[in-house]
Amino acid sequence: MKASVVAHKDFTVSKIDDRVYGAFLEHLGRAIYEGIYEPDHPSADKDGMRGDVAKLVKDLNIPVVRYPGGNFVSAYNWEDGIGPRDKRPTRLDLAWHTSESNAVGVHEFADWCATVGTEMMLAVNLGSRGVDEARNFLEYVNHPGGSYWSDLRIKNGRKAPWNVRMWCLGNEMDGPWQVGHKDAAEYGKLAANTARAMRMFDSKLELIVCGSSNSDMASYPDWERIVLEHTYDHVDHISLHMYFANREKNTANYLALNHKLDRYIETVASTILQVKAKRKSRRDVYISFDEWNVWYHSNKQDRAILDGNGGWPHAPGLLEDIYNFEDVLMVGLILNTFIRRSDVVKIACIAQLVNVIAPIMTEKGGPAWAQTIYYPYYFASIHGRGTALNLIVNSPGYDSVHQDNTPYVDVSGVHNEEEGVLSFFLVNRHGTEAADVEVSLQGFAEGQVIDHQVMVHDNLEAVNTARNQTEVAPRKGSGAKAEGGVLSVRLPAYSYQMVRVR
Ligand code: AHR
Repeated sequence: MKASVVAHKDFTVSKIDDRVYGAFLEHLGRAIYEGIYEPDHPSADKDGMRGDVAKLVKDLNIPVVRYPGGNFVSAYNWEDGIGPRDKRPTRLDLAWHTSESNAVGVHEFADWCATVGTEMMLAVNLGSRGVDEARNFLEYVNHPGGSYWSDLRIKNGRKAPWNVRMWCLGNEMDGPWQVGHKDAAEYGKLAANTARAMRMFDSKLELIVCGSSNSDMASYPDWERIVLEHTYDHVDHISLHMYFANREKNTANYLALNHKLDRYIETVASTILQVKAKRKSRRDVYISFDEWNVWYHSNKQDRAILDGNGGWPHAPGLLEDIYNFEDVLMVGLILNTFIRRSDVVKIACIAQLVNVIAPIMTEKGGPAWAQTIYYPYYFASIHGRGTALNLIVNSPGYDSVHQDNTPYVDVSGVHNEEEGVLSFFLVNRHGTEAADVEVSLQGFAEGQVIDHQVMVHDNLEAVNTARNQTEVAPRKGSGAKAEGGVLSVRLPAYSYQMVRVR
């Protein structure tokens, strides 16, 4: 099979906001406890944070981490997680039917963010609480001192404010599973009032209002329109979530799911423009895709705990999807979509980061390792920074349930002008045929291939485990060459690749 691509230096989509390579950590399962925090672990630092996990996170160079939820935040009292640890209450977490010790709260999370070199994105509880809690939390986190909440922060050991700029106004408020679920108008009013109060404190905050939990919701896309009609002047982003699954074991349909993602982004981008026009506004609102990942492998095993048959355990193994090689392709495709839609998607968070539907897994007292999907996320985060190119791709295709003529070859391209490097991320969706791809490089200086990474495996279900951590891992590719303004590369059947040219 042959495919051709045209990449022109001046034919661009947008400068990519680095924050599309963000991540998400929730008080859920073993994400926090036994994930980032395990005081008895041999690698733990003085704060009880696992050094081996911090290293894997640091290597990803994640620009932002969203915290503390997720469904968890909708009944969370942030005050439970401050002050002396032995005085912090254990609470029942209604979202995941577990107990929360509150051993980790905003101070510990902030310190960990500093260790791994990332920025905090905090969510306020608009489920069981509202404006008052949000303004207090904001004052605690961002006010220098001389007020009740800021002085309490200082008393609790943190003198300087953290100056968190990104704040989520609740989580998935369209979902009936959410504590304090609301209809679009109710939520829109509450979010607008909360945003107004938060902006009275600091007009420069970046506020993120809840869009739909997924594009199959009955309220979608009216939810976005109604919520934005209430909040358009007060927010900067609307949050979308989407999880990907291959329950039918149909790889062709699974790997076409990013068309559904594309339509979701396109629809919400249009809704934003509709409300903007209606309000005669000059402001722009963008998309924060702050939960995305593959999520289905662990569904069955989680049922007992989620149905309440396990009592109220603390940090049980929940949502522990073990990712396979097929998921590498899916995650590569999702990231390609975000790069191509970097004109409207300015923040995105892989959900989640450790143990819970995550690229990083840990064993209590044992190793931490990279799951298969760690790698496409790693390559995009490290090398997908710069300007997204508007590529013309010509590839044979197949009909899937999500779109006719789904191209076998999916590709995104990023031009990093500072480094003078072009990076291409390519996926071959064909299960039996290799693809010979020629990329015509137009308007760029002559260059050569400086890096070529390939992920391929003869078993789509191959996984990495604590004992075999590198069963699915990238290897250096060979054969890609840039000559006479043409980059040629061969993609084996079902493969993910990154090729860089300078
Ligand atoms: O990431 C797991 C859960 O998925 C989050 O808590 C929720 O926001 C979404 O439904």
